[in-house]
Amino acid sequence: MQIAIINGPNLNLLGTREKDIYGNQSFDLFLESLRKKYSNIEFHYFQSNIEGELVNEIQRVGFTYDGIIINPAAYTHTSVAIGDAIAAIKCPVIEVHISNIFGREEFRKLSHVSGKSVGVISGLGLKGYELGVEYFLEKLKN
Ligand code: DQA
Repeated sequence: MQIAIINGPNLNLLGTREKDIYGNQSFDLFLESLRKKYSNIEFHYFQSNIEGELVNEIQRVGFTYDGIIINPAAYTHTSVAIGDAIAAIKCPVIEVHISNIFGREEFRKLSHVSGKSVGVISGLGLKGYELGVEYFLEKLKN
């Protein structure tokens, strides 16, 4: 099973960035533990701070992978292009946010991605990515 995890802008700074909101674990360490726990899954990880690169990556993996777990970060709230890319591909997408975007500023309540995704996990920290993996495991078994 091939799952792509795609992270948007500033998520390369996890572990040092606004720790009270995003926690103190780096994504690299988290990914290492995910790879260990789900050793039968092939994880492909991509992070970019650039909107077009995220669109390119969604298109690149979106026709062959079993699933995408995406945290578009700030582009969630602004990017019609990322929403359109998700609508255009074939593989199912789960939107994840580390923080609860519905409990923060008003502008974070709008997502251009949610309506195009299978579902949204928001506010459960890095655990949200793992829950996304669990969903795909369960779904692809059937
Ligand atoms: C985020 C929430 C976004 O509003 C914010 O811009 C981020 C991270 C999250 O994971 O909680 O960069 O997507």
